[in-house]
Amino acid sequence: MTTSDRLVLGTYPTPIERLESLGLWVKRDDRVASLYGGNKVRKLERLLGAARAAGKSHLLTLGAAGSHQIVATALYGRREGFEVEAVVVPQPSSEHARRNLRVALASGLTPVVAASWPAAPARVATHLRRDTYVVPLGGSNATGSLGFVDAATEVAAQVADSAMPEPEVVVVAMGSGGTAAGLAVGFEVAGMRTRVVGVAISQPAPILAVMARRVAKKTAERLGLSRAQVGRAVERIDVDRRWVGRGYGWPLPEGEAAMRAAAGVGLALDATYTAKAFACALALAREGPRGAVLFWHTLSTAPMEALLGGAAELPPDLARLFR
Ligand SMILES: Cc1ncc(COP(=O)(O)O)c(C=O)c1O
Repeated sequence: MTTSDRLVLGTYPTPIERLESLGLWVKRDDRVASLYGGNKVRKLERLLGAARAAGKSHLLTLGAAGSHQIVATALYGRREGFEVEAVVVPQPSSEHARRNLRVALASGLTPVVAASWPAAPARVATHLRRDTYVVPLGGSNATGSLGFVDAATEVAAQVADSAMPEPEVVVVAMGSGGTAAGLAVGFEVAGMRTRVVGVAISQPAPILAVMARRVAKKTAERLGLSRAQVGRAVERIDVDRRWVGRGYGWPLPEGEAAMRAAAGVGLALDATYTAKAFACALALAREGPRGAVLFWHTLSTAPMEALLGGAAELPPDLARLFR
C-alpha cells in the first residue's frame, strides 16, 4: 500500500467551535459524516483504502460487542461493497452498546462470538481467508492513524484561517491509541506546538500509553520522518489516567457531570469515552492559565434509529455478550 490510499467517507473540514461558557474549543468530528460520524471514519478511510488497493473483498475486525469500531466498520465496509465479519467480545451492558451491535447486524455484519478477550486472537485466526483484510482493534495501526495525520493538517489550516488560536493541547479519549497517535504525528508534520492529551478510558492505563506511542512511531516512520521528528512526535503524547474510574464501559461521576455540562452547550457525549475526555478537558480549561484547549469530539451523533431498519432484538447468543 501507499500512504495515499484512501476512500473518502466524510466531509471536510469538520468545524471547530468555541464553547465560550466552558473556556474551550471543540472539533466536531461527531459530525464528520451523515451516515455515521466519530473517530472511526477517518481511520476507515485509510483502512478501507488499503483493503481496496490490496484487492481484498472481506474485512475482519474485532472488539467489544457494542463497540463503535465494529458498527462503523460494518456500516462503511458494507456500503463500500465488502463482506464484513467481526469477532465480538463480552462487555458491560448498556442500551447504547446493544444498539450499536443491532445496527451492525442490520447492515450485514457476520458476528463471530469470542468468550473473552484472551479467546479473541484464535477466533480471528480461524476466520482469516486469502481475500481478508484485517481491520485492527480500534482501527489503530499505522494505516488507520494516517487518517488522524490528515486531521491534524486540517486543524493547522483552520488555525491559519483563524478558526481558533494554535491549541496548546488537544484532549481526546484514548482506547486503542490510534487517534492520539495520528494527531501527534500530524502536529509534528505541521510544525505546531500542540500536545495531545489522551484520556485513558480503560485499565491498565500505562499500557495505553505504550500502545499509542508505538503506533505514533510506526506512523511517523511510515511517513519517512527523520529520527528526531519521530522522537518528538512520540513525546507529544501525554496520557491522563485520572478519569478511568472502574474501567472500560463504567460511568464515572465526573463524566456524568461533564455530560450535563456538554448537554448545556448542545453536545451529546457517551459515558464510556467522550464523557471522560470532556471531564478532563473541562478540568484542564479550569486549571489554567494555559493556552487554548481543543476537545476532540470522537463520538458519532448521527441518528441511529433509521439504521436499525426494523431489526429485531439481539438473538440470545449475542445478547449474552452484554453483562
Ligand atoms: C467514541 C470513541 N472515542 C474515542 C475512542 C478512542 O480512540 P482510539 O481507539 O483511537 O484511542 C473510541 C474508540 O474506540 C471511541 O469509540
